[in-house]
Amino acid sequence: MAEIESLLREKRVFKPSPEFVRQANWNKKTVREYRKLGEKPERFWARMAREHVSWFTPWKETLRFKWPNAKWFVGGKLNASFNCLDRHLEGPNAWRRNKAAIVFEGEPGDVRVLTYGQLHREVCRFANVLKNLGVRKGDRVAIYMPMIPELAIAMLACARIGAPHSIVFGGFSAEALRDRIHDAGAVAVVTADGGHRRGSTVKLKAAVDEALRAEAGSVRNVVVVRRTGDAVDMVPGRDHWWEDLMREASPVCPPAKLDAEHPLFILYTSGTTGKPKGILHTTGGYLTHVTTTAHAIFDLKDTDTYWCTADIGWITGHSYVIYGILANGATTLMYEGAPTHPGPDRFWDIIERHRVTVFYTAPTAIRTFIRLGEEHVRKHDLSSLRLLGTVGEPINPEAWMWYHRVVGGRRCPIVDTWWQTETGGIMISPIPAAVDTKPGSCTVPFPGIHAAVVDDEGEEVKPPDGGFLVITHPWPGMLRGIWGDPARYRETYWKRFRHKGYYFAGDGAHRDKQGYFWVMGRVDDVMNVSGHRIGTMEVESALVSHPAVAEAAVVGRPDEITGTAIVAFVTPALGFEAEAELVEELRRHVAHEIGPIARPAEIRFTDALPKTRSGKIMRRLLRDIAAGREVVGDTTTLEDLGVLARLREQEEE
Ligand code: PRX
Repeated sequence: MAEIESLLREKRVFKPSPEFVRQANWNKKTVREYRKLGEKPERFWARMAREHVSWFTPWKETLRFKWPNAKWFVGGKLNASFNCLDRHLEGPNAWRRNKAAIVFEGEPGDVRVLTYGQLHREVCRFANVLKNLGVRKGDRVAIYMPMIPELAIAMLACARIGAPHSIVFGGFSAEALRDRIHDAGAVAVVTADGGHRRGSTVKLKAAVDEALRAEAGSVRNVVVVRRTGDAVDMVPGRDHWWEDLMREASPVCPPAKLDAEHPLFILYTSGTTGKPKGILHTTGGYLTHVTTTAHAIFDLKDTDTYWCTADIGWITGHSYVIYGILANGATTLMYEGAPTHPGPDRFWDIIERHRVTVFYTAPTAIRTFIRLGEEHVRKHDLSSLRLLGTVGEPINPEAWMWYHRVVGGRRCPIVDTWWQTETGGIMISPIPAAVDTKPGSCTVPFPGIHAAVVDDEGEEVKPPDGGFLVITHPWPGMLRGIWGDPARYRETYWKRFRHKGYYFAGDGAHRDKQGYFWVMGRVDDVMNVSGHRIGTMEVESALVSHPAVAEAAVVGRPDEITGTAIVAFVTPALGFEAEAELVEELRRHVAHEIGPIARPAEIRFTDALPKTRSGKIMRRLLRDIAAGREVVGDTTTLEDLGVLARLREQEEE
């Protein structure tokens, strides 16, 4: 609560410099006009779709909304890979053929540049590889790769032939990969022998083998890029080397003319149950949303070298490393490795050497750099930077100020962008030349986006009161469903404010008197660890799958660096002792089941968990205990008050 109060007392306001305003893609006047137009979202988005996206066939109807299902640009036909590639090779932009599309830097220091012309050829080749393997329009392709150009090539090749990709972050375990492959019913997997991370290698192909060991399911082919040179097992008939297939493939592949609502990708994200949800995005609306927002918010120009540090395995990487950036014809930088390898200044070194102009990263990274010390930043010439962005979690005003002062040299506007896997693109953010910023606030919704902060009944709260963040009108990048689970889609996002027809984002927020939004964090059982979403139930299911665990409850505890740290309360099964070794064993087990990002920071053993008389775990109490806070509020429904006392005693020991 103290944190919220201090946030709402934040009075500092920052204006962009006149130089920035002069050159901006969207200035105050443009934004005023668009906000007016955006009062009728369909009209605004139709205009954006015409201006920023190339269509083979125009649409007939901008929005068809049958609660809770939306269709945008009905009847229109287009191709996302055409928009990211072909249209930069012809007409007035034909000169971009020899412009850098991707500047890649590997963790060992290898650099590769792919021009738009080269990227186009490679994408066409790989699209033919997929076709030759029997992949057809509508088939799902799983991609499990390090951050190397082949990842971008594979995803754009899928888009070219209309085969939705399902990218699984390379930090997820074999178990997590298996669930995602099977849930999507993928027919092929594209992977690499491994990737470089913190000076060692991550063995991706071995994880694919493990994921497919018990049953290949629908998977018929596995394509393997050689990256680290580590030895891998190749299963005859199923596994193929990328380079062998590419050598044979033709570089000519016309883009499929796809329906605006054709599925572009599935991306799994955590929810409030143990099972991750496959968020479905389609082509026309998504591309319109990400291309327009990238143009306006990142102010992209042909002279920019843009760097978003997110992995393509997350939505930020989909929308703002690849689709939104390449559709604008900009140069996107991809970095493979860890932010602090081989030294604490790796990021700043990359910015200096490649003359990065726009830099987009997560608050958790900023907080890590603050702790490492500003001398590592100061060593480098960052004068190429002109705009900074953050995403993924609330940024505390002090981290914002440090970013502004130390990285941005007080001259770069900061865009704090609020959005989600489900929203597809940025929803609430400053437009840098047109919206003044306040440290810790993502400011106001993008034109054509309508958001509100409401109470339990769905009524707007009075500023500066807090409530639930909702989106009150459909938007083009919105998810079209949860793969294979329409009931869960309705339940999760639309049921809570059914009577109003609002989308429930799962975040708590405040709005100040100027209408600025201050997002506080999740209000459901989803944790945000270093900007990554992890469900408490997911970690609980991983824990109870271990024979030593009888019962587990997982909560988040505030953490200075990662935002949230995972704390697990575990009751050992009969015959198992609460020992330090078991703690380590369980942490390893969770990393094996889900991935290292889900490894609990702390595991506490307890002989019982606090429950209500009806048997529900009282997480609220556990959250207080984990945070070392006084347990407040009603405990009268607690079945056994002794449990609480014993947990508290442990604390004092
Ligand atoms: O809680 C919000 C937080 O991240 C959640 C979405 O996570 P994910 O789907 O993984 O997408 C992250 C990247 C778009 C949101 O529900 N979040 C994201 N951006 C911000 C944020 N919280 C505060 N401020 C932000 N700028």
